[in-house]
Amino acid sequence: MLKPGLKGITAVETALSLIDGQKGDLKYRGLPIEQLVKHYSFEETAYFLLYGHFPSEKEQKIFETDFKKHRYIPEHTKQIIAMLPQSMSMMDVLRTALSSLKITETADIDLARKMMALMPAIISYRYRKMNGNYEVKPDDQLGHAENFLYMLNGETNQTHAKLLETYMILTMEHGLNASTFAARVTISTQSDIVSAITSAIGTMKGPLHGGAPSGVIELLDEIKSEHNISEIIHKKLENKERIMGFGHRVYKTVDPRAEALKEKIRELEDWPDWIDLALKTEQETINILKAHKPDQNLYTNVEYYAAAIMKSLEMDPELFTPIFSSSRVVGWCAHAIEQVNNNTIFRPKAVYIGN
Ligand code: ACO
Repeated sequence: MLKPGLKGITAVETALSLIDGQKGDLKYRGLPIEQLVKHYSFEETAYFLLYGHFPSEKEQKIFETDFKKHRYIPEHTKQIIAMLPQSMSMMDVLRTALSSLKITETADIDLARKMMALMPAIISYRYRKMNGNYEVKPDDQLGHAENFLYMLNGETNQTHAKLLETYMILTMEHGLNASTFAARVTISTQSDIVSAITSAIGTMKGPLHGGAPSGVIELLDEIKSEHNISEIIHKKLENKERIMGFGHRVYKTVDPRAEALKEKIRELEDWPDWIDLALKTEQETINILKAHKPDQNLYTNVEYYAAAIMKSLEMDPELFTPIFSSSRVVGWCAHAIEQVNNNTIFRPKAVYIGN
C-alpha cells in the first residue's frame, strides 16, 4: 500500500528515545528528559545516549578531554570557509565545512565526538568573521555549551550557558525525524559519517523540519502587548494561518520539551518583558485554539520556548537552526551507529504511474 512520506510506517528499531505523544513524554534510553536536564550536563547526556550508560569519573575525564581536543578547526577548513560567499546561509556553510574534513570511516563514537565538538566551532568562527570580529579560540576550562557561547560572543555567563545547555539537551534526540532518517539512509549504504551528517544537515535546513523559531518571534513582535493577543490570533485563524509554535505531529498535548524550557526560563531572576508576553500569549492562544479546533489538541511545541530561550540569549535568528543542528548531531550520530550495528540498506518501492 502506498504511504506518502512513509507516514505510519515503522522502519527501524531503536533503543535511543521513546516518545509518547498522547502523554507528552520523552525519554532518552529510558530516562525522562526532565531528569536529564536537571541532573546532567550536555556532555554526560551525550555520553549516555552514545554509550548507553553514564560515565565513571575517569571515563568522563577522557571523554571531555577528547571532546575539547576536537574544538579546533583544521586550517584548510578555515580557508574554505573564508572563500565562501558572504550571502551563503550558515547551514550551507556548516554542510560545506564538514564536507572538507578528511574522514572516510563509518559511524563510531570517536567520530561522533569529533562532529559534536567541531560544529559549534565552525558556526562561531564563521559568525564572528562575517561580522568583522576576531576569532575566539576555545577555552579548555569551559564545558560544551558555555564554550559555544564564549566562542560566539567572546564572553559568557553561567546563567546563559545553563539556558543554552538545557535547550541543547532537550533537542539532542527525537526518534526517526526527517534529518535523523536521512543520516540513517546514508550510513545504511556503508557510506562515511561525514556524508551521513551532511545529509542530515541538508535535511534539517528545510523550513518544514528545522524551521527555526523565528516565526514565533515574528508573532510575538506583532502582538507587542497582551491587549492585542485575542484580536491577532483570531484574525490569523480567520485567514487560515497557522499559529507558529503550536501543534505537533506526534504530541497531542504539551510538548514536554516546551514545558522543560519554560521551567528553565522561570528560574531566571529577572526575565525580560518579552517572556511575560510569551506566557500570556501561550495561555490565551491555547484557549482560542481549543474553541476554534476542539478536536485537534493544539498546544505549544518546542519551537515556542526555543524562541524564548534564543531571545533571552540575544541570539541572531540566523543561528537558530545551526544551534539546533549542533545539539541534534548527537542523535544523528547515535542513530548512525545503531544503523551500522544492525544494518539493512534502505530501499523502499515506488508505484509506477507513468505511460
Ligand atoms: N495553528 C492553527 N491550526 C493548526 C495548527 C496551528 N499551529 N496546527 C495544526 N492546526 C490545524 C490545521 O489547520 C488542521 O486543521 P483542519 O483539519 O481543520 O484543516 C489540523 O490542525 C491538523 O493539521 P495538520 O497539519 O494535519 O497536523 P499535523 O499534526 O500534521 O501538524 C504541524 C503538525 C506541522 C507542526 C502543525 O501543527 C503546524 O503547522 N504548526 C505550526 C508550525 C510550527 O510550530 N512548527 C514547529 C513544529 S515543532 C518541530 O518541528 C521541532
